[in-house]
Amino acid sequence: MTGFSRLNAEKIKNNLDSVRLGSDILVFDAIESTNELARKHLEEGASEGWVLLAESQTRGRGRLGRSWISIPGVGIYMSVILKPRIQPERLPQLTLLAGVAAVQSINEFTNKKAQLKWPNDILLNGKKLSGILSEYHTTQNGETGVIIGIGINANHSPSDFPEDLRPLATSLGIETGDPVDRQTLATSLIRHLDREYDAFLGDNDSAILKKWTDHSDMFGKKIVAARGGKEIQGTAFGLDLRGRLLIRTQQGKELALDSGEISLGPTR
Ligand code: BTN
Repeated sequence: MTGFSRLNAEKIKNNLDSVRLGSDILVFDAIESTNELARKHLEEGASEGWVLLAESQTRGRGRLGRSWISIPGVGIYMSVILKPRIQPERLPQLTLLAGVAAVQSINEFTNKKAQLKWPNDILLNGKKLSGILSEYHTTQNGETGVIIGIGINANHSPSDFPEDLRPLATSLGIETGDPVDRQTLATSLIRHLDREYDAFLGDNDSAILKKWTDHSDMFGKKIVAARGGKEIQGTAFGLDLRGRLLIRTQQGKELALDSGEISLGPTR
């Protein structure tokens, strides 16, 4: 590959002071999907903390069966293997945790404040900049493995997005007018993930929920969600311990929206 500087696993590792993540950092040129390869490594016994990065993905996947644009050398396409020993109900909080870590690192590269949109989007200037895809697997010896996949649009130009996505998607380069050093961005992302994950495991109060709400402007606003083909309208007012979005409908009914069954539409 030419024309961009390839991510360097050794340099990333040397710039980390990780507690839990980054024991192994693997950088690939073109692979199908870092989440898919992480799943294979998990099945083959990879330990917690492995980080997989790719310069491009041929079948990068997003939530709800969508694909993730993964053209070479302009984005961060990363998956991390976790094996948290926590109550299963808390597992969805890991997606929220990854969102918080991604916002923290993105905010080191821009004066604008990135915002979290439940359950897995990071927006900059109202457009999608980054997304999280968490996948759960039970390993052969019964451990719970969680693959956290994170995609960040770093140096994409508008023409890198399909025409229908251009009004909705952005990159750090587009927003700041300057190219981003992906090596520094990847290192920062792993560092923030490591800190948040370590804090999360030692915290029964789920402080991550408060951090997530602090980085989101969704609360107090009207949202429209689709659940099983039906439209639900309400005002978002919080998150529960299962990572569900709490909304109050116009009739005053409180509902907990589950990320697996819901897709959020734009606010009206
Ligand atoms: C979404 O917003 O729908 C989630 C996007 C997640 C994309 C990342 S890129 C690295 C990892 N590998 C994948 O195939 N997907 C995730």
